[in-house]
Amino acid sequence: MNKYTFDDYYNMVNGCIDKYVPVCNFSEDIVHEAMKYSLSIGGKRIRPMLVLEFCRVCGGDVESAVPFAVALEMIHTYSLIHDDLPCMDDDDIRRGKPSCHIKYGEAFALLAGDGLLTRAFGIIAESEIAEKRPDIAVKAIKALSELSGVNGMIGGQVVDLVNENRSAPIEVLEVLDSLKTGALIRCAAYLGAICADADEEKINAAQLYAGNLGYAFQIVDDILDVVGDENLLGKPIGSDAESGKSTYVSLLGLEKAREAADKLTDDAVRALEKFGNEADFLKNLAYSLAKRKH
Ligand code: IPE
Ligand code: IPE
Ligand code: MG
Ligand code: MG
Ligand code: MG
Repeated sequence: MNKYTFDDYYNMVNGCIDKYVPVCNFSEDIVHEAMKYSLSIGGKRIRPMLVLEFCRVCGGDVESAVPFAVALEMIHTYSLIHDDLPCMDDDDIRRGKPSCHIKYGEAFALLAGDGLLTRAFGIIAESEIAEKRPDIAVKAIKALSELSGVNGMIGGQVVDLVNENRSAPIEVLEVLDSLKTGALIRCAAYLGAICADADEEKINAAQLYAGNLGYAFQIVDDILDVVGDENLLGKPIGSDAESGKSTYVSLLGLEKAREAADKLTDDAVRALEKFGNEADFLKNLAYSLAKRKH
């Protein structure tokens, strides 16, 4: 039985996020401040929630997975700081507040992103799981490195940039979305499952769910960039069109994009059969993300 609600997970993550940012050992703590700023101004915390819930459905101790959840949220937040920079999407608002580079300047925003990325690996290395089961921590570090790296999220950002101002074929969009967004969402499911020392079958089911969910998540993000409400979204709309991005919406139109997101959401939910009644939270999460307004 699941004793954790959406709000419980949200509060568990938000309650400890600050404590994982290192204390400044010298006088110029602007980058520490920028790291905390971007982490704490908002965010739905979907990836950490997936880490914690997959740990639970796979029979693990949810509390022990918290450092892994925070580490992943740090990497995600770093990716957003860099994504907003003028050399990338050039967006001034993030999570309803001035983007990191607007508040702290480009150089410190770049360094705050670097700081979050590097700290993430330290948090896992210092975790209780690393002490008791170093093999699990090593697997987690390997997955984080691969899935956030040049063959994962960064790779997706490369494909995204290379395809600006041209109409990428659908197969390229599939790669783009499943890397730039899918990779960290798959990583979330994987981290949760390995924190519970899940078997291969469960890990595969978790990854299948997350692969479809992540792909759908990016298509909905692209839809919201066209029809979303900036105040609810907490980031500018029209950013993709302005920078000539190839998205599902630009290629196939809103209706087909919506259909694709719904189909992927159904595929994600189907992958949960393995978890029986324990999968309700993950099912509801998938449906609510497909309908989200932010
Ligand atoms: C935004 O991710 C970037 C994408 C990968 C689409 P989220 O929509 O999860 O952003 P936050 O964390 O809630 O701000
Ligand atoms: C960003 O995709 C994905 C990553 C940051 C890796 P987008 O550029 O579409 O995300 P938003 O819309 O700015 O949040
Ligand atoms: Mg982008
Ligand atoms: Mg962007
Ligand atoms: Mg977007």
